[in-house]
Amino acid sequence: MEIRNAHLYDFPKYYDLVYGSDWKAEFDFLEDCFERYTSRVVRRLFEPACGTGRLLYRFGKAGYDVAGLDLNEQMVDFCNARLKRHKLPQAAFVGDMSDFTLKKKCDAAFNTINSFRHLGSQEQALGHLRCMANAVTKGGLYVLGLHLTPTAVPPLEEESWAARRGNLAVLSRLWVAEHNRRRRFERVGMSFDVYTPSEQFRIVDETKFRTYTAPQMQQLLAEVPEFEVAAIHDFSYEVDTEVIVTAATEDVVYVLRRC
Ligand SMILES: C[S@@+](CC[C@H](N)C(=O)[O-])C[C@H]1O[C@@H](n2cnc3c(N)ncnc32)[C@H](O)[C@@H]1O
Repeated sequence: MEIRNAHLYDFPKYYDLVYGSDWKAEFDFLEDCFERYTSRVVRRLFEPACGTGRLLYRFGKAGYDVAGLDLNEQMVDFCNARLKRHKLPQAAFVGDMSDFTLKKKCDAAFNTINSFRHLGSQEQALGHLRCMANAVTKGGLYVLGLHLTPTAVPPLEEESWAARRGNLAVLSRLWVAEHNRRRRFERVGMSFDVYTPSEQFRIVDETKFRTYTAPQMQQLLAEVPEFEVAAIHDFSYEVDTEVIVTAATEDVVYVLRRC
């Protein structure tokens, strides 16, 4: 298969095919959180690192006022084009989630699948949480999902997903190429195998994720007293099941409430 070295997030169409179908559990869980963890009526939503807006446009269609931010212009263009197709305001914009201001505060925000770990330093992570504290109204929520690095069991090393729509099929793979606990990063290989009637090729990329053990995450959150932890769930997205974070915990969803 022909190999193309490129940045995966520059291909929102392929990204969205693989990850876009997987939205319902997150969507329902987020709505359950809006009902359970805030006394505010949630109307305005914001997603930092919104990517293709796979969740955002569905919330828009459901009647919420939505906005999103992403560093990648292709992602933002894809997201806005879809919002437009659904007759919604083109409310995604290019920006850095560690340094931004929202013109209008939101009632709730969400960031569900590890995007937060793209921020490579403590300074950026804190910058992000402080920007989010400014972006969310008092009593509102920030739902933040990520993989922690377990210290009691070996971490997950590889994942793959596949999806097909019409003549296009994409197989996505993620694998840990290096895990540096001391310097707190994971070098992660990522690829899309793309199959169309006329060509087949593999896009190969590599990214760095910052790593967080449970105590490191707890310490970070303690530095942003504007948020309290209202609840902790996991990627099973069951609002009735809260998790107790241990040294073996991997996927977590923090429900942060703006104090
Ligand atoms: C795994 S994708 C997630 C997209 C979307 N949140 C979703 O659930 O499908 C990660 C996204 O984070 C974006 N990103 C990475 N670093 C960023 C930063 N510093 N500020 C804003 N977006 C960033 C990437 O461009 C990419 O679209």
